[in-house]
Amino acid sequence: MAEKLLMRALAGETLKTPPAWMMRQAGRYLPEYKATRAQAGDFLSLCYNPELAAEVTLQPIRRFGFDAAILFADILLIPQALGADLWFVTGEGPRLSTITDQAGFDALKPADTVHDHLSPVYETIKILSRELPGDVALIGFAGAPWTVATYMIAGRGTPDQGPAHALKDGNRPVFEALLNRITEATIEYLSAQINAGAEVVKLFDSWAGSLNGDDFQKYALEPTKQIIAALKARHPDTPIIAFPRGAGEKYIGFGPATGADCVALDQFTDADWAAKHVQKDGCVQGNLAPGHMVTGGQDLVDEVRRIKAAFSGGPHIFNLGHGITPDANPDNVALMLETLRA
Ligand code: CP3
Repeated sequence: MAEKLLMRALAGETLKTPPAWMMRQAGRYLPEYKATRAQAGDFLSLCYNPELAAEVTLQPIRRFGFDAAILFADILLIPQALGADLWFVTGEGPRLSTITDQAGFDALKPADTVHDHLSPVYETIKILSRELPGDVALIGFAGAPWTVATYMIAGRGTPDQGPAHALKDGNRPVFEALLNRITEATIEYLSAQINAGAEVVKLFDSWAGSLNGDDFQKYALEPTKQIIAALKARHPDTPIIAFPRGAGEKYIGFGPATGADCVALDQFTDADWAAKHVQKDGCVQGNLAPGHMVTGGQDLVDEVRRIKAAFSGGPHIFNLGHGITPDANPDNVALMLETLRA
């Protein structure tokens, strides 16, 4: 069988129709997801139930025929594996115990112990490796250290990542020790995902955009580079996607500087600009605004065509610029794929 489309794009091939998948493609906009989540009890129970996590991973593949499946889990499982308390408040989002000083850091577990807690995730990947259609690639993932740290420090999502910036500026040794611990744990976690059957891994740095100047270099770019170097040493053939969301001009050169095989673009990045300044270095992913999955219509069709055309001169993976939202209409997802593949 010919190699999977996603793997071909990641290897640098320019394809007539780019492979497509969607961030948060398993999620609350799908009635079948909500039914399976209810069966599991709650979101975290779903993440740690290999059979049901595999089931929700497969749901959007069955319904839409995406070219890739992304493991169903969450970036906040790593903090929990390191010993943080984690729970989700319905309608609000995640809550965690906070780390604000040396004592909080000292209470964390060593990086090489995370596998005990995360073994159900590896089990999900093994099930998916058996059950996914032969032309669909399996993507594993983790949060990038800065983004994970913002939640571990604040204990919740924050609009400006204020608490994390305060720790960085007020107690740099603890901040850097925390980033290092997350970096080490993430290397172990992603390496185990690859051993279990993940064919690609993606690093989500959702809050990279709030780091400026030297801080971006030290706390977004460097940890990503470290993780990629360690993974490439162990798994030289596994492609890695990096998503420094909100990086703006700092998207330029991010792929070569970190060793990422593909750079994922948010919807605030102009596609023509990115084709010229980012795609010249290799594969890019993105970057339709998720709002089109709510509004649909001719605007959606025009945008899909515009983005496909902008990136047609090089390797491209079609995706949204961020996750699909719970109010999206599944018919618009089908229209997006139909337009892309026409
Ligand atoms: O993309 C996928 O379909 C794979 C699964 C996945 C989830 N979260 C499932 C999820 C992935 C890759 C993530 C990544 C993630 N999680 C990120 C990085 C990407 C991004 O969106 O910026 C972040 C910051 C998180 C942390 C997180 N998890 C938040 C802030 C929330 C609450 C917001 C919300 O949408 O409710 C979650 C919960 C979450 N993670 C849900 C899903 C499907 C919704 C939970 C539910 O079913 O109620």
